[in-house]
Amino acid sequence: MQTIITKPFADQNPGTSGLRKKVKVFEMPHYAENFIQSIFDSTGKIEGKRLIVGGDGRFLNRQIIQKVLKIAAANGFGDAMVGRGGILSTPAASHLIRKYRAHGGIILSASHNPGGSDGDFGIKYNIANGAPAPEKITQDIYACSQKISHYRIADTDDVDLDHLGKQMIGDMKIKIVDPVHDYANLMEELFDFEAIRRAITGGFRFRFDAMHAVTGPYAHEIFEQRLGFPAGTVVKGQPLPDFGHQHPDPNLVHVKELYDLLMADDGPDFGAASDGDGDRNLIIGKGIFITPSDSLAILAANAHLIKEYQAGIAGVARSMPTSTAVDRVAAKHKFFLYETPTGWKFFSNLLDAGIVTLCGEESFGTGSDHVLEKDGLWAILMWLNILAVSGKNALDIVRQHWREYGRNYYSRHDYEEVDARAARKMMEDLHARLGSLPGMEIGSLKIEKADDFAYHDPVDYSVSSNQGIRILFKDGARIVFRLSGTGTQGATVRVYMERYEADPDLQEQDTQKALEKLITIADEIAHLKLLLNRRKPTMIT
Ligand code: G1P
Ligand code: ZN
Repeated sequence: MQTIITKPFADQNPGTSGLRKKVKVFEMPHYAENFIQSIFDSTGKIEGKRLIVGGDGRFLNRQIIQKVLKIAAANGFGDAMVGRGGILSTPAASHLIRKYRAHGGIILSASHNPGGSDGDFGIKYNIANGAPAPEKITQDIYACSQKISHYRIADTDDVDLDHLGKQMIGDMKIKIVDPVHDYANLMEELFDFEAIRRAITGGFRFRFDAMHAVTGPYAHEIFEQRLGFPAGTVVKGQPLPDFGHQHPDPNLVHVKELYDLLMADDGPDFGAASDGDGDRNLIIGKGIFITPSDSLAILAANAHLIKEYQAGIAGVARSMPTSTAVDRVAAKHKFFLYETPTGWKFFSNLLDAGIVTLCGEESFGTGSDHVLEKDGLWAILMWLNILAVSGKNALDIVRQHWREYGRNYYSRHDYEEVDARAARKMMEDLHARLGSLPGMEIGSLKIEKADDFAYHDPVDYSVSSNQGIRILFKDGARIVFRLSGTGTQGATVRVYMERYEADPDLQEQDTQKALEKLITIADEIAHLKLLLNRRKPTMIT
């Protein structure tokens, strides 16, 4: 066991979801070691305790896992469980932490950000209940990283990550486990696999795009082996360090092939994809893309069809920028509804306290209290289960939902990698004008309220301020502006627009068209294009 002298790196402040930087940054001597030691220094007594370790298979995954294990051993952990090949999806890691009563887990992933040697890398820490570390802990980790003077590490051979079984580093046991087995069992407990099998026998066809990211092995086992979908249902099922030169972000731009397939006359009935670390989901029914906000609302409205949620759900939560479609379901079914800041850590408190059963974000994240992370495959299985037991197709389910609850047209416009100073200035300017906006009339729309969202956590009473600027219109329309907390280059400005349409005859419009007025107003109010020096958004979802 060695003690290595080191110096702080100024930029080790975790963002929306862990510390995310370019691979090149994590390759700097001591960079990863400092951060890992800072985690162990801020998460309480670890002697003799258990650590779960795995990642999404991206470039550097294996090397950093070796460092995590050697530093964990030198810091006194009793044992570590590692997914074979260094693989663990984020929700599977959360499940293992809970099931095997670990002290916590380290998940190596930069989620949907690109991989490869010039891509991104990330380190996330999850606490004993399986949830992402709350802000209190991420702030401590950052504070430790800013005064670190040394780290402890075992000077030993690398661990063999590819064979199941036990190994040792000093006194720390290492168990290499099947990354899929326990997670697949959990899914089988939650959902009616028999009903889905019957649908398959009845001709139901499905396509899952694993994007050469972590969900491949999980999807092959669950969809093809256990459920019996034919081989070939799962495409791009092998995790690759650079995700096959693709961006493992399940949106309509990056899985265009899947989208086109689902829009074709002879395409499958249902399509889905997940991201780098398996916590996101993209849902496409035959002939219709289902927005994550609508998906959350529809899952909540149909949860009673699933045996796990038959007894009723305690409450639902959505992140502030997520559309208010689920609010309408909550109002009708009398569920409690919580509106949280962006980032899963805010949901975890509510899920853990048992006051929320389902939650979701507009950014393709949906989950429940079965683990304290968002869970891509869980959401897809919930859809498959609902389709199987209702006997309806996805398009009909969505249309009926809109008829019953109304449709929330919704879109997010991202201005990526803009100048960080310009982005901050744009937000500050807007912030300074918040007081003057209410009452302003723009065409037929009137601003009712404008504020910077602050969240009071009902479980631990913590307050999180500056979580995004909201412009709320009298008719329920909204525009939200916020800066991303996951980018690794410059700044990313996200603008979210939403408008409610109750009239069934007006529910089949093109989304961008339906939101045209709000899109123009967003630019007029914030001077986006001018201040960010961009002619149009980089990405529209
Ligand atoms: C983005 C999403 C957010 C999600 C996070 C982690 O964060 O917007 O909903 O929780 O990734 O997957 P952002 O870059 O907006 O801070
Ligand atoms: Zn992710």
